[in-house]
Amino acid sequence: MITVRAPATSANLGSGFDVFGVALDRPADVIRVERADRTTIEITGVGSQYIPTDPEKNTVGAVVDALNAPARIEIDKGVRPASGLGSSAASAAGAAVALNELYDRGLSRKELVPIAAEGEAVVSGAAHADNVAPSILGGFTIATEQGVESVDADIPLVACLPEIAVSTRDAREVVPETASMEQLVKTVGNAATLAVGMCQSNPELVGQGMADPLVTPARAKLITGYDAVSTAAQQAGAIGVTVSGSGPSMLAVCHDDRRRDVATAMLDAFADVGVEARAYQTRVS
Ligand code: HSE
Repeated sequence: MITVRAPATSANLGSGFDVFGVALDRPADVIRVERADRTTIEITGVGSQYIPTDPEKNTVGAVVDALNAPARIEIDKGVRPASGLGSSAASAAGAAVALNELYDRGLSRKELVPIAAEGEAVVSGAAHADNVAPSILGGFTIATEQGVESVDADIPLVACLPEIAVSTRDAREVVPETASMEQLVKTVGNAATLAVGMCQSNPELVGQGMADPLVTPARAKLITGYDAVSTAAQQAGAIGVTVSGSGPSMLAVCHDDRRRDVATAMLDAFADVGVEARAYQTRVS
């Protein structure tokens, strides 16, 4: 039996829509695989009741097919489904790594990224690699049509998950179809600043570089209390705040000594608008 811990991830980071991602040091899924004649999937943990166990409908079914690796698969969910923290991606990524090892397929971590992305497409409708890439490679990742690049980074973060539902499909529908030259120039500048910040493990540059005039403002409207929570986080010391993935989680970048205050401020601000939430004091890992 092979056991793999697959970390939660946060995609986009504001200015890097569908391109940037980071692995978080918590929460995580744990995937166990054992060789079998036919594939079965057992799911426990947070939100497991909402996830199909039929391999045709589960994120790991396509991974099994791509690796020709039938197995008895146990998934212990630590990452809530529909959280904006890469829940389906964590399971697909963990299964890809575990099955590659179980069957000695010999694929590199980078080669496993498109395979896991196909698995994710089963549930999200599109094969984005911006969550599976960091879950497999760790650190900060840049996923483009040309492939995936990753760098180690150490950045303190708070991921705050409200008890509301935002579907990725709905969150993609509100993304503007066009951008002005001014918005484009701002976004490119911010994305470049963020990438340099990650390479230097510099929270100031990462926080500044998360600002995004295009996608985040449209998606913020889907998250009850977004503006108040963002303001509260910044007053408590967050350098940058954005939507994590397609939401509803919000991601704040800060210095280590502000993490607890930022987490408390975000929870309080959600509570003020009647929304229960949970905060993870985490970091890029
Ligand atoms: N980049 C994707 C999005 C991540 O924001 O829609 C969610 O799958």
